[in-house]
Amino acid sequence: MESNAIEIRNLSKSFRGMYALDDLNMTVPVGAIYGFIGENGSGKSTTEKLICGHLVPNGGEIKLFGRDYRDAGVRVRVGALIENAGCFPGSSVWNNLMMQAINLNLENPEEEIRRVLKIVRMEDSASIKFKSCSLGMKQRIGIAMALLGDPALLILDEPINGLDTDGMRIMREILVDITQKYSTTVLISSHILGELEKIATHYGIIRQGKMIQEISAKEMESRARVFVSVKTKDMKGAEAVLKAKFDNVREEDEYLRVYDMDDTESIVEYLIKSGHVVSEIKKNKIGLEEYYIELMSGTAARKEEE
Ligand SMILES: Nc1ncnc2c1ncn2[C@@H]1O[C@H](COP(=O)(O)OP(=O)(O)OP(=O)(O)O)[C@@H](O)[C@H]1O
Ligand SMILES: [Mg+2]
Repeated sequence: MESNAIEIRNLSKSFRGMYALDDLNMTVPVGAIYGFIGENGSGKSTTEKLICGHLVPNGGEIKLFGRDYRDAGVRVRVGALIENAGCFPGSSVWNNLMMQAINLNLENPEEEIRRVLKIVRMEDSASIKFKSCSLGMKQRIGIAMALLGDPALLILDEPINGLDTDGMRIMREILVDITQKYSTTVLISSHILGELEKIATHYGIIRQGKMIQEISAKEMESRARVFVSVKTKDMKGAEAVLKAKFDNVREEDEYLRVYDMDDTESIVEYLIKSGHVVSEIKKNKIGLEEYYIELMSGTAARKEEE
């Protein structure tokens, strides 16, 4: 049974005696869009390069679909876009893909190129020279390259960096498409948490070369702190009144937030009793960005016993 696309145990990697990865563990279920998050230098790219065999670990184990990652049979099932696509600028999109298809020894290269161009919505751009493509197109070509040969696992290092809103939306649609139509598993690192949140099914949060939390999007949602946001005419006055009764009150984005609370009625009642007029109130949950920030400072998840 192939339950996990990636299983990493106690992986370590050092550069000139400095540990970039230190006993890293990671589990990516088949079919997941796994958002790999962590600050600059935390070890995301290093992990991805190790999985792809671009670097050699100092210790630990990497299994892909239940087999050692060096196994040739499993290597052909991995596609990756790390750093850049490695394209020839003066060659057309088609020719760049053809060179890669030939490298991979694909049986029907033309058919396969048409397939991947369709997935990345570039069927009509095959004859454009790579150097004339926009950044968004270049990123999509990189993904097309990685998709040649229909990999079961796709590894993408910050593929949405520098893309505009539309470029990010297209990338999002492409990734969801791939996972749904071809059951591809995607490992994607990004600092753009608001985007990642829209597609990721799982998260791995890495810090200084160690995995500090792996969590499914569902579990994160159920664990994320709830809060009520309120607007009143006299925000300063209402803040003082709320703080007198509730532990976690803070102003954020022009709303007063009462954390770990979802009873809007009792807040309205309390504010009215205290002479405050409520103009707006709603229940909320913290998103990935705040979850991440709070995890880093140690307060994101509600305590188990609550
Ligand atoms: N080839 C290398 N030689 C020396 N040190 C390296 C090398 N590659 C990575 N490192 C170091 O390993 C650590 C992890 O780097 P890595 O690039 O994996 O981080 P990252 O999480 O991808 O960061 P970012 O978010 O900035 O891309 C850093 O301290 C980095 O300086
Ligand atoms: Mg990186």
